[in-house]
Amino acid sequence: MNNQRGSLMMAVLASGVLGIGIVIGSIWLFQGAPEQDDKGTEVSVEYGRALIRETSVLMGPSHEDPAMRLSGSNLDCSSCHLDSGTKPGTLSLLTASSRYPRFSGRDGVEGDLLDRINGCMERSMNGQKLSRNSAELRSMAAYVESLGNQYAAMGETRREANEPEAFTEPPRAANPAAGLLVYEERCQVCHGDNGQGLQATLDIREGYLFPPLWGPDSFNDGAGMHRVLTAANFIKARMPLGQPDLTDDEAFDVAAYINSTERPHMANLEVDYPDRKNKPVDGPYGPYIDPFPIEQHRIGPFGPIREFYRTLE
Ligand code: HEC
Ligand code: HEC
Repeated sequence: MNNQRGSLMMAVLASGVLGIGIVIGSIWLFQGAPEQDDKGTEVSVEYGRALIRETSVLMGPSHEDPAMRLSGSNLDCSSCHLDSGTKPGTLSLLTASSRYPRFSGRDGVEGDLLDRINGCMERSMNGQKLSRNSAELRSMAAYVESLGNQYAAMGETRREANEPEAFTEPPRAANPAAGLLVYEERCQVCHGDNGQGLQATLDIREGYLFPPLWGPDSFNDGAGMHRVLTAANFIKARMPLGQPDLTDDEAFDVAAYINSTERPHMANLEVDYPDRKNKPVDGPYGPYIDPFPIEQHRIGPFGPIREFYRTLE
């Protein structure tokens, strides 16, 4: 009797342990087990954060492993998305994930966060679209999504962008010659006498301390930063780094100067904005459905162009 009860107890206990084992095992399999891509690379928020901070080191064009030469320049995503996108304000990635999927005027179709990151890969990084199944693309998206949660948990004061008043567009054409003077006085010390930036070490695989603003290793002419208003907004808010104190006029002129220089060309720009009415007034490449010269799209004045599109509506 005692013996029988004993073995019954043992059986109950054993099946309990087995049950717990099965439960833990399936949690590990279906949730805890790291997701991998077909190269066996793990998808993780940490990998995504590292890729955004050290893009050049981890997937730059001079990477030792040819299969990892995924970016076309040695910029980092964090060259523009400061502090790996965690800084509130201009080009912050803190709330980016909440905006996708959405319609892209540039692509003419709806796109998700992966598509948007690939937009920066092809243009800002002058590279290639990453495969939608790659651990690289999925990890960067996972990181950007995790920033959304971080933002939700942030206190009100930490959400506030600590930057100068937003850029207000001067009602005139930008003046690249005046911009050159601003460049020499306020930017050249870090970004170089020829916009080439300053490498972190003699080995380009280590990336830049100060990223290039133009030349062969910079963003290409299809990038958002190549639009004078986008660049002026960024520059007014963030540059000179640590001391962003330019006036609207200075930011406008220096943005026009930077974008009057040589940089990589992106093929097939004419297929962007299939509905031409969606082209931004400062879209620096044609074709346009308005009569304004390309120069005016590059440096303004933008008032008359906006007025033209208003009358089309
Ligand atoms: C040369 C500057 C630059 C670099 C480098 C760059 N980006 Fe961007 N990024 C931009 C600009 C400009 C925008 C457009 C912002 C807008 O639409 O107002 C943008 C937009 C984005 C957005 C959408 C943000 C939103 O709120 O809708 C994401 C996500 C993004 N970038 C991720 C990346 C990733 C990941 C990399 C690196 C692979 C990268 N970017 C590299 C300039 C850059
Ligand atoms: C003290 C050094 C310093 C000065 C001065 C400075 N920058 Fe920068 N700039 C940086 C750094 C560093 C980054 C990359 C951001 C990071 O790593 O945090 C950057 C990024 C940029 C970028 C985006 C990335 C790229 O390569 O295109 C632009 C555009 C830019 N700076 C323009 C300017 C302009 C215009 C001025 C002058 C008004 C200026 N900067 C002055 C250090 C500086």
